[in-house]
Amino acid sequence: MEQTAKLIVDGKTYELPIVVGTEGERGIDISRLRQETGLITLDPGYANTGSCKSGITFMDGEKGILRYRGIPIEQLAEHSTFTETAYLLLNGELPTREQLTNFSILLNDHSLVHEDMREFFENFPRRAHPMGILSSMVNALRAFYPQLPESSEDENVNVMSTRLLSKVRTMAAMSYKISKGHKVVYPRHDLTYAANFLNMMFDSPVLPYRIDEVLVEGLNVFWILHADHEQNCSTAAVRLVGSARVNLYAAISSGISALWGPLHGGANQAVVEMLKEIQANNGDVKPFIKRAKDKKDPFRLMGFGHRVYKTYDPRARIMKKVCDKVLNRLKQKDELLDIAGKLEEIALKDPYFIDHNLYPNVDFYTGIFLQALGIPINMFTVMFAIGRLPGWISQWRESIDDPQWKLHRPRQIYTGSKERDYVPMKDRNSSKGKP
Ligand code: SDX
Repeated sequence: MEQTAKLIVDGKTYELPIVVGTEGERGIDISRLRQETGLITLDPGYANTGSCKSGITFMDGEKGILRYRGIPIEQLAEHSTFTETAYLLLNGELPTREQLTNFSILLNDHSLVHEDMREFFENFPRRAHPMGILSSMVNALRAFYPQLPESSEDENVNVMSTRLLSKVRTMAAMSYKISKGHKVVYPRHDLTYAANFLNMMFDSPVLPYRIDEVLVEGLNVFWILHADHEQNCSTAAVRLVGSARVNLYAAISSGISALWGPLHGGANQAVVEMLKEIQANNGDVKPFIKRAKDKKDPFRLMGFGHRVYKTYDPRARIMKKVCDKVLNRLKQKDELLDIAGKLEEIALKDPYFIDHNLYPNVDFYTGIFLQALGIPINMFTVMFAIGRLPGWISQWRESIDDPQWKLHRPRQIYTGSKERDYVPMKDRNSSKGKP
């Protein structure tokens, strides 16, 4: 029996269908609301609005659950690799050994960047933020690889998806080397996805990079944790821009731009900057907790809070263990990790954070891990973007195949001036208009 919701407007009752998801979550289908009632809904920030049905990622914010294609994130972090998890997200199933080998070969075949693109990198100002460079260069890929698929089943999409996954990793490392005026290191066919990235970032003619399996494992877990997260801000941007039927590169470029924001993917950089500020303040976290609670102060505790998780972000819990393991391996003691632990301990006992359901999110510990790898702070969000790529591509592919696909075009409630006439310049009174 279909469940419905009753809406009474001006004495008239309307029945709206209720959609029930795999895990029992429910939504009121308002796709015919305006047609039947003349009304729209209003939901700033879409906190209560679902934009689509999706079979890719499931999150339960109250229970702190995250699953990719039904598999818990904890199991993927423990047993999988980023390449295998990317295949799972893109294709819906874990690969057979043969499928994984072929996927890895495709990734390797597409790991080089067109030599003409190097000039683009070389002509960005040295201080250009890597996220701005990455967003521009991903968009530029369209110029170098113009053949585009008509539908998501097209073999071209597989090639285009693996091309993006592979080239974005190479572009990130190339951008870093060029920004430092160092020799670009090319990808090697004998290295795995994560090992190749670390080698491209840190190998040099004078000091060959020694690949450490614990760091490679940590980077795989980091990217697995970031691979998808249902309809977050940047994924929503990819779907929205993609709904205009632009090419994948343009849609992904919009996702990179959205991720750059400090309230979203830029938070990992903001967390380390905040921890360094606390460190410079003799490690005293109390003034920062006080500021975070002060309504008059725009300061927020970076790495805390989440639109969906109203409990501990399962990814933060895993990331904390990765930090400990990697710092132990490197025999590094990072005071920032101690400060983060102190901040978390005090905040989680504070009524303000408890009442607002504010817990550490994925970004709270990731910056400390990336710093331990030697990744420069302005590349932290680029690392997030590389991880999120399989999610963005999967969501884009699902959206273009969605039988209910529509151009994303929200409505609004108008609150501006009522109708009024044009005023000739000679009759305008400057004190009325804007200065
Ligand atoms: C990511 O969506 C995703 O899935 C994102 C992500 C992914 O994988 O894609 O998980 C990645 O973006 C993680 C979030 C990283 N951002 C930060 O760490 C920045 C700091 N956090 C916040 O700014 C905030 O928590 C958000 C933006 C993450 C979520 O905010 P919401 O859901 O829009 O909630 P809100 O801004 O309406 O805040 C609700 C209340 C407010 O207080 P009241 O006015 O109700 O009294 O909680 C307070 C806020 O002031 N609050 C905080 C806070 N976060 C929310 N107060 C202090 N510090 C904070 N961090």
